[in-house]
Amino acid sequence: MNQHIVRGALIGVWVLAGAAVAWVPRDARFAAAAGTPEARAPARDTVVDSLLVSDSIYQGWKWWHVYCYRCHGEDAMNPILPAAPDLRLSLSPSGKAFPRDSFVHTALTGRLEKGMPAWNVMLDTTAIQELYLYVKARSDGWLKPGRPHRLSDLQNKSQ
Ligand code: HEC
Repeated sequence: MNQHIVRGALIGVWVLAGAAVAWVPRDARFAAAAGTPEARAPARDTVVDSLLVSDSIYQGWKWWHVYCYRCHGEDAMNPILPAAPDLRLSLSPSGKAFPRDSFVHTALTGRLEKGMPAWNVMLDTTAIQELYLYVKARSDGWLKPGRPHRLSDLQNKSQ
């Protein structure tokens, strides 16, 4: 068979197929799509929730806004006491790149002569590690300012 005829026939088939798809009424196509699991998944699965956190980070956020924010700033930014650093920069690889242990040690023992209290009288290591996770999430940037929530908060809300 001549090559041109074969190609011509193939294009014809595609044009016909395209016309058939276009012809099916819109409602019928939506009904078909609604049957798929993707169509039934709740919208929030496809939207990035930048305030959704683990229990530990949530706990860290709470400690932060009891003990740390009054000098280092709400949402771990815009420090209120001029001498208190923005801890997002202390943890950032492009800043001081504090490892977790240095953060925990500094928070527990403080730097009294510089105005940083020692928190070992109020908080244990677990609490300081939760604080670290919170500040790290803020430093990495995926956790936006504001009140975070846990998966269990969302489930309770939708019940
Ligand atoms: C009364 C004010 C004040 C409070 C409250 C406070 N800090 Fe600080 N913090 C400071 C100051 C001032 C410095 C800087 C000390 C220095 O210059 O070495 C500092 C430094 C730090 C550093 C070292 C950062 C760096 O880049 O060197 C860490 C970590 C830190 N604070 C954690 C915390 C945590 C966690 C809390 C809450 C539990 C907290 N701070 C509460 C005043 C405060």
